[in-house]
Amino acid sequence: TDRYCVFGNPISHSKSPVIHAAFAEQTGDDIEYAAIAAPLDDFAGAWRGFTAEGGRGANVTVPFKEEAFRLCDVLSQRARRAGAVNTLVLGKNGLTYGDTTDGIGLVRDLERHGMALAEARILILGAGGAVRGVLEPLLAAGPASLMIANRTASKAEALAADFGDMGTTRGGGFDAVAGPFDLVINGTSASLAGDLPPLPDDLFAAGATAYDMMYGAEPTVFLRWADERGACTVDGLGMLVEQAAESFFQWRGRRPDTGPVLEALRQSL
Ligand code: ATR
Repeated sequence: TDRYCVFGNPISHSKSPVIHAAFAEQTGDDIEYAAIAAPLDDFAGAWRGFTAEGGRGANVTVPFKEEAFRLCDVLSQRARRAGAVNTLVLGKNGLTYGDTTDGIGLVRDLERHGMALAEARILILGAGGAVRGVLEPLLAAGPASLMIANRTASKAEALAADFGDMGTTRGGGFDAVAGPFDLVINGTSASLAGDLPPLPDDLFAAGATAYDMMYGAEPTVFLRWADERGACTVDGLGMLVEQAAESFFQWRGRRPDTGPVLEALRQSL
C-alpha cells in the first residue's frame, strides 16, 4: 500500500480523500489517502514526517500552498508561475517535486463543458492566490484576451503585467470592466460572504459561460446573477475533481475517469 495525504488546516471538510479513494478503486491502485492537519508553524516538518513514515506524495491546500512551494527541490513550470504548489511528489532520489494542478483542472473542466478557450475573451474576477494559480494554463490555451478585475485594482494590474508575456492581458478595478466576454470566471472569495462584485449588466456575449471556482449544494450568488443574464453557469466542483485527477496522474501515471466520480460527489452535496 502506497501512502498519500492532503495537508491543510483546517482539513476535516476536505473531499480529497473521497475523490482519491474513488480513483484508486477505479484503477485498482493499492493506495491509502489520509487528511492531515499540519501545524500552522511547521508545514515542512509535517511533510518530512510523512515521507519518513513512507508517504509518497501529498496534496496541499489552504493555507500551505506557498510554504509547499518554498520547500520543493524541483518545481514544474506552472508551479513556478503560480508561486504555489498543491501537489508534492517524493522522487526515488529523495528529492521533493512540486506541481500545481488547479489551473489544468480548471481548463479540463471548461473543455468538458464544451468551452472553446482558444480565441475566447476571458474576464477573471479576483487577484489572489486562487487566480494566480490558474493563469498559466488558462493563457496557454490561447484566449484572444484576458482581463483581470479586482476590488483592489493595483493587484489586478500587477498580476496582468506578470503574465503579459503569455498573451493579451489587462488588469483593473471592477469599474474598468467592459464586455462582452465569452467566459467570466469568479476567482474571488466574495461568494463565501454571499457578496457579488459590482459588475455591469451587459457583461456576457451570446452563449457565454460563467464559472465560479467555488461550489456548494446551492448555486453561488455570482452564478445566480449570471444565470439571470443569460449565461451558462458552471460551479467549481468539476475543477476540484479534475485537479485531483491530475495529481493522481503525477503520482500513479494513470488517468482516472473523472465523470462518474464527479457525479457521485454532486449527489453527496
Ligand atoms: P484566495 O487564495 O482565495 O485567492 P486571497 O489571496 O486572500 O485568497 O484573495 C481573495 C480574493 O478575493 C482577492 O482578489 C480579494 O480582493 P482584494 O484583493 O481586493 O482583497 C477578493 N475578495 C474577497 N472578498 C471580496 C468581496 N467581498 N468583494 C470582492 N472581492 C473580494
